[in-house]
Amino acid sequence: MGRVALVTGGSRGIGAAISKALKDAGYTVAATYAGNDEKAAAFTEETGIKTYKWNVGSYEESAAGIAKVEADLGPVDVVVANAGITRDAPFHKMTPQQWQEVIDTNLTGVFNTVHPLWNGMRDRGFGRVVVISSINGQKGQFGQVNYAATKAGDLGIVKSLAQEGAAKGITANAICPGYIATEMVMAVPEKVREKIISGIPAGRLGEPEEIARCVVFLASDDASFINGSTISANGAQFFV
Ligand code: CAA
Repeated sequence: MGRVALVTGGSRGIGAAISKALKDAGYTVAATYAGNDEKAAAFTEETGIKTYKWNVGSYEESAAGIAKVEADLGPVDVVVANAGITRDAPFHKMTPQQWQEVIDTNLTGVFNTVHPLWNGMRDRGFGRVVVISSINGQKGQFGQVNYAATKAGDLGIVKSLAQEGAAKGITANAICPGYIATEMVMAVPEKVREKIISGIPAGRLGEPEEIARCVVFLASDDASFINGSTISANGAQFFV
């Protein structure tokens, strides 16, 4: 029987590419989204991938949503915690609300997504957790104190989960994408974006599919001894 994969924020941007790549690799995929019903419906129509709406920042909504996914598709074997938002502002202008929204979605959202699945993965002796972090969790970024804090936090999450899950057949790894051609990056002011691209040795933004292929590998049996790792995919912009 094919494995089941859950991708949060899986109907747009990097998440959509991940959902499609996992489907192409033979997984039954559930993709979550937060708000845009029309785009989610169009995504399902185009790909045949089921979409589910919930706010990853809410534990109750996540647990209920995951229960529904598992009732529809079976136990989730692979979870990709991808949902994320930006509320960029220099620190002196950042509001407590901008801080909290990003923490709730990007960091607490990872807990809320993985925790309801963890015991099932332990019981079945198999699981793959992939968290989509960011280059900016590794190096920090002007205007992203909130976002960088969450993305650095992701790395602590996977390193800890890896140690807890290893004896139970569960791996937990992070991918740190650099600047990828998505709506999120296109929302950066053009002048700032041009400056960022000029600092990428590859001379271009990454493609969502270049991240999706990393996820498919980490989810596979071939990656069974890779646990607690961080894969950087950033066109040589930054090295740890
Ligand atoms: N380094 C140093 N100084 C910088 C700077 C930088 N990277 N960016 C801006 N500044 C300076 C400006 O030159 C300006 O200086 P002066 O006042 O002396 O002229 C000052 O900071 C204020 O700049 P702005 O007027 O542009 O301030 P703002 O409040 O309008 O916006 C900002 C600031 C929100 C940080 C904006 O510059 C911005 O959006 N930057 C991009 C941040 C970024 O990279 N976000 C990543 C989004 S994509 C993503 O997150 C995906 C991923 O994982 C990679």
